[in-house]
Amino acid sequence: MAKFLFVTDLDNTFVGNDNALFELSDRLQQTRQEHGTKIVYATGRSPILYQKLKDEKNLLEPDALILAVGTEIYLDGSDAPDSEWSGKLSSGWNREVVVSTTTRFPELVPQPDSEQRPYKSSFFLQEEAAARVLPQLELELQESSLDVKLIYSSGIDLDIIPRRSDKGQAVQFLRQKWKFVAEQTVVCGDSGNDIALFAVEAGRGIIVGNARPELLQWHNEHPARSRYLATNFCAGGILEGLKHFGFLK
Ligand code: GLC
Ligand code: MG
Repeated sequence: MAKFLFVTDLDNTFVGNDNALFELSDRLQQTRQEHGTKIVYATGRSPILYQKLKDEKNLLEPDALILAVGTEIYLDGSDAPDSEWSGKLSSGWNREVVVSTTTRFPELVPQPDSEQRPYKSSFFLQEEAAARVLPQLELELQESSLDVKLIYSSGIDLDIIPRRSDKGQAVQFLRQKWKFVAEQTVVCGDSGNDIALFAVEAGRGIIVGNARPELLQWHNEHPARSRYLATNFCAGGILEGLKHFGFLK
C-alpha cells in the first residue's frame, strides 16, 4: 500500500452512516500513520458549523480543511485561513455588489449569518424556482462585472463564490503543495458542490450510493473510468471505493 491524498465531503458522504464511519476512520488513521496518507475534509460548512459537526461525530483531525465550498483552506490545524489561497480570490469579487444584486430576486432567502463568509454568499432557493432564477441571476451578476460562479446543491442551497474557487481548485492547490499526482488522489462526494472535485482530470473519484440527482446527472453526462459509483451509502460507499481503487485492502 502506498500513501495517497484522501479528500472527502462531510455531510451525507463521510458522515451519515455511523458504523461505517467508525471503520473508515480507523483504516484512514492506520494508513496515515504507516504510509503518510493525507486526510482532507472539503465541505460547504463555515468554521462554526464544521466545528459543531466535528465535535458531534468526533471526527479525525484532518491534515487540511477546505471550508465554505473551497473559498477557505486551513492547514495544520491553524485557525486562520491560508492567505496565499485567499489572495487568489479577491479579483472579480465584491460581496456588497453580490448581495445587492441578489435582493432583486425574492426567491432567494439568505442563509444564517454564520454561513455568509468573506468569499461566499449563500441562500436557500426552492427547487421549483431554480431553473428560472439561476440563469437570470447569473446574467445580472455578470452584468455587474463580477467574476463569480453559482453552485446549487441538494435542491435547496445556493452558493455564490469567486470563479477561481471551488472544492476542486482548492484540492489542486493542496496537491501542488504536497506533491501528489492525480492518480494518487481520491475525492468523495454526494451533491452539487462536489462536482468540481470530480471534474479534476485523472483524479480518482468515489460517488457514494446515496448521491443526489444533480451529481448523478453530471456523472452520466461526463463519464470517466477514474470515477467509481458505489452501492453502499456514505462512509460505506467510501470504503467500497477505496478497495476498488486499491488504496485499501
Ligand atoms: C453547507 C453550508 C451552506 C452551503 C451548503 C452547500 O451546508 O453550511 O452554506 O450552502 O453546504 O454548499
Ligand atoms: Mg454532501
